[in-house]
Parts: sequence; structure tokens; C-alpha cells
Amino acid sequence: MSDDAPDPAAGPAHPPSSELFSEERSADVVAASFAATPDPRLRQVMTSLVRHLHDFVKDVELTEREWAAAIEFLTATGQACTSTRQEFILLSDVLGASMLVETLNNRAGGGLTESTVEGPFHMVASPRRELGADIAEDGKGVPCLVTGSVAGPDGRPVPDATVDVWQANDEGFYDVQQPGVQPDLNLRGLFTADGEGRFWFRSIVPRHYPIPQDGPVGRLLEATARHANRPAHIHFEVSAPGYRTVTTHLFVAGTPFIDSDAVFGVKPSLVREFPTVDDPERAAAAGLPNPFRTVNFDVVLRPDTETGTADREA
Ligand code: BEZ
Ligand code: FE
Repeated sequence: MSDDAPDPAAGPAHPPSSELFSEERSADVVAASFAATPDPRLRQVMTSLVRHLHDFVKDVELTEREWAAAIEFLTATGQACTSTRQEFILLSDVLGASMLVETLNNRAGGGLTESTVEGPFHMVASPRRELGADIAEDGKGVPCLVTGSVAGPDGRPVPDATVDVWQANDEGFYDVQQPGVQPDLNLRGLFTADGEGRFWFRSIVPRHYPIPQDGPVGRLLEATARHANRPAHIHFEVSAPGYRTVTTHLFVAGTPFIDSDAVFGVKPSLVREFPTVDDPERAAAAGLPNPFRTVNFDVVLRPDTETGTADREA
């Protein structure tokens, strides 16, 4: 084989561009190299990515030192990932990319319950519990009765829906962040709604908390004078056969950081008052000390048959 014969092992060359790389035409030349991508979606994504990346580099006139720092940052982000920590998702969260992808793919409207980020603390399966159970295994915190229902958009109840909940404690920590301090599986529960789609359980009012700050994402927040806090919330994942699962939160009205969530997860439709009830009879009926707080969350699921999303796989 002569020196200038193409090496078959190298795979097909990208389509020849009519031009060589230049500052002015950089995006066109590089985008053209993807023109023969067989998967049309991959071609569209790569072409757009190249155009936006080149625009960005030109917009800020990126220096070589800055590009090296960016690569170092992304390398550190990857190196911080373990089987229980996903620093890239955290990066996506603080850049608002998680919320944007999630919002584009779960357009709600029409009374459907809006979704929000899942977050990294759903890493253990919630324990199955009976309706009415207390998920606050250590009994610490301000007691709260959580009630709600699951229905379709026509208002008809969804019997036997699965309601998975997890939340931080009154100091702003999940059980997995405090092994040996909180009981395992504290403040988690997997419930089955009753025949009329209703669910209820006992818990405590969660506290706001900071996302993990001891890695590259924390350093980014610090360098950009951003705080790391999330407003107080309870996570819900509600599913039922024939419906799309909704992953969402219930936010505590009036919680600190409700207007500046570090991961942009707040949607006004998900904020609820947690009023205090001072009624010994109701407290006794609920199995809670008096007074106690209450919150109600009525969930409306999207039938599987409706897409209403940007999902291309359907
Ligand atoms: C959470 O709510 O658990 C969470 C979401 C995104 C990043 C960190 C935590
Ligand atoms: Fe959370």
C-alpha cells in the first residue's frame, strides 16, 4: 500500500468540505464533517452542537488557558462520579439543563401535574408501607399529615396508583447522607393508593438544604457567587398502568430559597401551604401529636396514549 492510499481500517473519511478550516467558516466546515451521519437525529444534534459551540467560543473569544481550565473542570467532574454520586447530573442541574430537558419532554397543561427534577437521593428503593404509615422512623421534626389523590385528566380516580415518596429531614439531610445518624430508609415510602386513588401518610415538614458542594460543581457555585440551596420539598414519583409516570416535588410555601432554587426546580403549581391544625380529635384520628401540620397534593396523570411531548421515540 502506498503512503497516500487510504487506510481501510480508519473507516470512511468525512465528506470533503469545499473549504478548509478558517475562523470565519469554522462551524460550516466542521458541521459538514457530520453530513454523512446515517442516523438523521444524530446528524441534527451534532450539527447544532457544533454551531452553538463555535458561536460560544467566538462570542467570548475563549483563550487557550480558559479552554484548558474547562477541560480540567470536566475531567474533575467525571472523576468525582462514583456508583453513588453523579457529578455530571449535578452540573446539568445547576446549569438548568436538567430542568429544561425535563420540561420540554413533559409539557403539562390542562391540569396535569407538572414534573420536576428527580435529584440524586432516590438511590435506594423506598420501603413498601401501608396507607397512613409514619415515614419519620426517628420521630424527629414537626409532624405532618400528607394526603392526596391520583386521578386522570377527566377527574376519574386512578385506583391502586403507586406513590413513591422521599424527603429530607428537619435538618435538611436525606437518610443516605447520614448513615448511622438517621435510620435506614427514614423518610421514604412506597404506597399504593386506595380504590378511589386516595393516599395518606404521616411524616414531618422537610427543611431546605444545600446540594453537594464538596466537588467541582460546588467550586463552580462558589466561583460564581451562587448559593447551593434547594427550597424545602417532598419528592413524589406517581405511576399507574396506562399513565405516564410523573416525577415531581411538593414545595413548602414560604420556605427559604423558593425563588432561587439552585437547580431551578420550582414550578408555582407545585407549591403548597402546610397549615397547622390544632385539634386534639383530628390529631388522635391521624395518630399524630397535637398540633400538627397538613398538606394535600392531588396528582393528575397523563394517559399513556397522549404524547404531548417532544419525545421522538414514541
Ligand atoms: C434533590 O432534590 O434531591 C436534588 C435535586 C437536584 C440536585 C441535588 C438534589
Ligand atoms: Fe430533594
